[in-house]
Amino acid sequence: MAQKKWTIILIVLFVLFLYVFFYFIIVTQQLERTVARLQYQPKHMSQYPHIVLISQVFDNPYWRKIENGAKEAAKQYNINIEYTGPLQTSIDEQVKLLEKAIASRVDGIIVQNLKDEAFTPLIDKAISRNIPVITIDADAPKSRRIAYVGTNNFEAGQLLGKAVVSRVDGERAIGVIIGTDTSENQRLRLQGFLSVIAEHPRLQVVSVTSSNISRIQASIQAEQMLRKHPNISVMVGTSALDAIGIRMAVKNLHRENIQIFGFDDVEETMEAIKEGDIVATVVQKPYDMGYSAVKLMVDHLSGKQIDKEHFTAIEVIDRQNVQQGRNK
Ligand code: BGC
Repeated sequence: MAQKKWTIILIVLFVLFLYVFFYFIIVTQQLERTVARLQYQPKHMSQYPHIVLISQVFDNPYWRKIENGAKEAAKQYNINIEYTGPLQTSIDEQVKLLEKAIASRVDGIIVQNLKDEAFTPLIDKAISRNIPVITIDADAPKSRRIAYVGTNNFEAGQLLGKAVVSRVDGERAIGVIIGTDTSENQRLRLQGFLSVIAEHPRLQVVSVTSSNISRIQASIQAEQMLRKHPNISVMVGTSALDAIGIRMAVKNLHRENIQIFGFDDVEETMEAIKEGDIVATVVQKPYDMGYSAVKLMVDHLSGKQIDKEHFTAIEVIDRQNVQQGRNK
């Protein structure tokens, strides 16, 4: 009898213990969420959260699309967005803008990584000061950034490679112009592209150089490349203005038989595809990148868990589908 009584007491105590244990876990999780939310409350309570978006080049058409997406989300979620960037691509300038944003204790930073050594320590510095950083367009995977929003650049490079393989016949020498030789996105695109070309011995990449994302530089570099390697008959560009720069070079040299492949859907590229001067382009979704980056920052600031990687869509546009409605 006494033993039965003790068994019942032990069961009751055990159930009580389980109850207290789970109650403790639930309350701790709620507390953690509340602390996270309070930590990221905007510093200027009277204003909307101030988020800085730092571009590679202020007036580049691709970055303007990112800006438009970010501004649309900012309107929707009551964010004060500040779009900024160097007038011409410059790692130093971009680093200064990042330092300035950290020093002015903004509520969040959205930035592209142009060079690991320069950006990773600064991104980590911002995080240690409770300023969340989201990388956009080019990731800084070794940093403590809270998330990356943009293209899966290795896959985009592969897509470019496949576009070339399926639209070019016979044995060909290929020239490549990349945007920035230090940036994560261009490095991955080139790797992806080369990995596909390597599977087709009839295609050889004979030269790779950088345009510094300038149309004029892309044209100058392409002209030099074509003079040095007259056997090149396919040229590809891996940032938004490279293909139209290559097209200028091809026209200057009267080498219109060269097949050009590019990246992105800036207006001139679309026109050139319609006219048959550019064969195809891998199109990213810069508007979606800007929109999603701001939306994710808002989620984070309000204490929600966000995933570390958000890949936006990519597609190939050529003469067949260029007439269809384009995204913003
Ligand atoms: C790249 C950006 C770059 C832009 C330059 C895009 O393809 O993703 O990193 O700033 O081209 O025009």
